[in-house]
Amino acid sequence: MCGITGYVGYRQADKILFECLKKLEYRGYDSCGIALVTKNGLSIFKDQSRVGDLEKKYVKTKTKATAGIGHTRWATCGEPNATNAHPHSDCSKNIATVHNGTIDNYLELKKALTKKGHKFKTETDTEVFPHLVEEYMKDTDAETAFKKAFAELKGSFAIATVIGGEDKIYIGRINCPLVIGVMDGEYIIASDSTTLLKYTNRFIYLQDGDMGVISKDKVTLFRNGKTVKPKIVSVENKYDDTELHGYPHYMLKEIHEQPRIISSTIDDIEQLTLLINQINKDLGGIKMIRTLSCGSSYYSSLILRYLAPQLLGIPTFAELGSEYCSLTVAPKGSLAIAISQSGETADTIKAAKEAKAYGYKVLAITNVSDSQLSRLSDYTWITKAGPEISVAATKTVMSQAAWMYAFVLANPSLRTLQKKASISSFRKVPELMKQLLEQNDETIEVAKYLKDFEDIIYISRGITYPIALEGALKMKEIAYIHSEGYAAGELKHGPFALLSEDIPVVALVSHDKDYSSLVTNLREIKTRKAPLIVITDEKDIMLENLAEKTIVLPKCDATYVPLLHLVEVQLLAYYTAVERNNPIDFPRNLAKTVTVE
Ligand code: F6R
Repeated sequence: MCGITGYVGYRQADKILFECLKKLEYRGYDSCGIALVTKNGLSIFKDQSRVGDLEKKYVKTKTKATAGIGHTRWATCGEPNATNAHPHSDCSKNIATVHNGTIDNYLELKKALTKKGHKFKTETDTEVFPHLVEEYMKDTDAETAFKKAFAELKGSFAIATVIGGEDKIYIGRINCPLVIGVMDGEYIIASDSTTLLKYTNRFIYLQDGDMGVISKDKVTLFRNGKTVKPKIVSVENKYDDTELHGYPHYMLKEIHEQPRIISSTIDDIEQLTLLINQINKDLGGIKMIRTLSCGSSYYSSLILRYLAPQLLGIPTFAELGSEYCSLTVAPKGSLAIAISQSGETADTIKAAKEAKAYGYKVLAITNVSDSQLSRLSDYTWITKAGPEISVAATKTVMSQAAWMYAFVLANPSLRTLQKKASISSFRKVPELMKQLLEQNDETIEVAKYLKDFEDIIYISRGITYPIALEGALKMKEIAYIHSEGYAAGELKHGPFALLSEDIPVVALVSHDKDYSSLVTNLREIKTRKAPLIVITDEKDIMLENLAEKTIVLPKCDATYVPLLHLVEVQLLAYYTAVERNNPIDFPRNLAKTVTVE
């Protein structure tokens, strides 16, 4: 994980590096740092702090450097502390490196370098790299030393290195992203292109194994031992609304954007039909779907597992990216749908690559148009959630969940009448969602009740079950309360042993075909004295009798109730986290984009 950046040109590098690092904090915020190239060496500033705090401290020691690198960390190798913060340097402190990813053979390298007299100060894998370059530089020039050192690394990484007195950045990547922003007489690098959009929309995307040297007037790129001409790609410069607009937290602001996201998903259904027609043509009809995704994106994908077999007759299997092992060649008509808001999740990308190797056509559903996932896939659908700042995903999850419905509605095989009726009900959802967003009293009351518990169980049945999983994940993630989501029918197969007055059960109830079985489960839970919180699309006497507390959603067509449940579980986690005074947008130990396996 981690975010890396670098600048070389004629402007003051420090300001630009801090600005980029703030944008990259979604990749981790355990610590941060910059290294600036000065005439006689390097100036390194780093700490276990957020970027904004390091910048405040830094102002006092301003330099006029026009080249440098920066890093914001999500700790993988070595504790999150100031010593392990990047950039890391060699013995002479004249070579500094920032790194995203993992160097698998760092222990061997460290042992060999230690034997040669190198002294290590940190627990990180990264630190071996500047020492390796230093070692090679005893016999050769900096560029050759960088290439030789890079060739020794095993693992997945993107690396940027600076050397004192040289206005240059040495870069390289394997399996981790790195992009070069192109300007006139200046270059800027980052782990993603969105970070750089303020400066440029012209990019050079590095391929796996590429290395390069960047100075203010040129980029020299090496691929498979040869020098290659860098290919510059211009991308659309998207509007980047990252203001809070009066909301206390990005998470709440993003939850409130969801009605707009549903509307734009519905508006895109015709466009989606064109894409499905193309896929049907290429595959000779979609006969089987395998979804690949992680975390909340996986929970969104589960919605399709319920909808597609039932409404389209297409067998659908949902796979976790991190556990994906398709050992057989794709049967004819197989489509893999890889879902990832960032398009950079390492596990999902690996699964998508594997699916391609087994002959699946891959459709990427992502919020980032020039992400790795979108570039490796055969087809891409860009969700219209806009940039999401809060680490806990909300509006991007909604955009994916809504897409699952849209995929079914856009499918030519869905009967026209059924389609018409369903689209017209779908169109009512944004307005109902707005109503739900305005009625927070019951949610706040339940949040105040839940805030002192140590464990919570979420349950539901059928298509709302994935929302129970998502509700539990959001509660863990931002309220730091241990929560588990279960299919209601599964509770009696073990988890019942846990039920007591100390573990509340949040039940997501819809008045659909699963209602009666779910109510039976609620009765069983009540008998075991666990406090029941019911979130339902309709109050009724049965539920009133069972529930300790009830939250009633606006009345909605049963098909779409899960989307309202989704908003409600987000709000419940949000208000519980507020009650517990937690840092809502940047929860501990997490990063927004998970670029390690
Ligand atoms: C939870 C959350 C994560 C992500 C997961 C996949 O709030 O954000 O569980 O859903 O890391 O990320 P993407 O969708 O970028 O592949």
